Amino acid sequence: AEISYVMVKPDGVQRGLVGDIISRFERKGFKLVGLKLYQTPKDVAEEHYKELSSKPFYGKLVEYIVSGPVVAMVWEGAGVVASARKIIGATNPLAAEPGTIRGDFAIEVGRNIVHGSDSVENGERETALWFPEGVQSWDQTMTPWLKE
Ligand code: GTP
Ligand code: MG
Repeated sequence: AEISYVMVKPDGVQRGLVGDIISRFERKGFKLVGLKLYQTPKDVAEEHYKELSSKPFYGKLVEYIVSGPVVAMVWEGAGVVASARKIIGATNPLAAEPGTIRGDFAIEVGRNIVHGSDSVENGERETALWFPEGVQSWDQTMTPWLKE
């Protein structure tokens, strides 16, 4: 099944937005298969954002991600990667539509509350990085009410 790695970043945890963010994915109908509050080791943050390692903001980005605990999650469902990106909104919160997480809660690109995988391949890669212990598959009794 398709999975996306979604993370409430340290600013979202500090601001008490964890419940709201989880609710949006739950109410959409995606299935939670991984969840933990986690103080990120620096090497994990560096590996997660390695595609951005040549950017001028990379150092600050890694410092931000390790600045406090994150809520690491894996959500499962058909189309979850692209849908999660829509629920999250544009990278720059001032450009993000109201109704998206970033559009509702953030103003700066360097404090944009939440992460979502940008491809199916990265959903798998990031899940393996953040959940080396594996995720939990389970049967959702609600499935007939969500899927034709
Ligand atoms: P993520 O879901 O966190 O990966 O964000 P994204 O996919 O919308 O954006 P991208 O992967 O391009 O950038 C990763 C993160 O780097 C962003 O979420 C921002 O927190 C940060 N970032 C991106 N561009 C800038 C920038 O120009 N300045 C600063 N300070 N941070 C940036
Ligand atoms: Mg990204």
